[in-house]
Amino acid sequence: MLAVIGGTGMSELTGLELLRRHGSETPLGAASAGVLHARLAGRELLFLARHGHPHRLPPHRVNYRANLWALKQAGATRIVGVNAVGGIDPSLPTGTMAVPDQLIDYTHGRDSTFFDGRFRPLQHIDFSWPYTEALRQQLLGAAAECGETVRAAGVYGATQGPQLETAAEVARMARDGCTLVGMTGMPEAVLARELGLEYACLALVVNPAAGVVEREISLDEIHAALEQGIGRARRVVTALLGA
Ligand code: HPA
Repeated sequence: MLAVIGGTGMSELTGLELLRRHGSETPLGAASAGVLHARLAGRELLFLARHGHPHRLPPHRVNYRANLWALKQAGATRIVGVNAVGGIDPSLPTGTMAVPDQLIDYTHGRDSTFFDGRFRPLQHIDFSWPYTEALRQQLLGAAAECGETVRAAGVYGATQGPQLETAAEVARMARDGCTLVGMTGMPEAVLARELGLEYACLALVVNPAAGVVEREISLDEIHAALEQGIGRARRVVTALLGA
């Protein structure tokens, strides 16, 4: 079953017909919200609001372990994380959608593994290719089907936040090879991998990252881009369900 983790701007998914709301409690604490088992355009899916609904949890306080655990418990086998991001690569302007194929983790202090020697014994996992290629391709196919242009690759840099980055931080990330920057891509991706769940990210660029353009980043600009873009992300997810 497909699960969608809705990020900023997508704490609910318009058009969902609710079938069942799972509880949010897990052995790892409370998930951001109850997992919704619902129908969208006639197909069943699971939906979880990453920051809670209404949006209340900052990126560093999301209980990613509980979220992934709750989704697996609810029957998820593949997960699409929808993420608002800043564009580092100037060829990814506001309004662009991308399905990244790599990531670099700059976050710290987050509970980022189930295999911590307490909840589960230590285990090292392969994470060379952090996103599930088959699911990435399905997302790209779904986008093509509904006429949405989506960049087929990208390197997602996950930052701690909640403040946006400095221009120097973004310049360093660009030198590292990052093309997108967001605050929630990790540890979500690795936790999905640890649970054996397929995972891909649908990123929506809502601003040029710090220093990519001369001016400062305005929150109004981000909100306007989210409002404009989130419907397109929803169309891609809906097409993926039908595929
Ligand atoms: N940086 C980090 N996270 C973000 C940004 C950004 O510029 N835009 C949206 N989420």
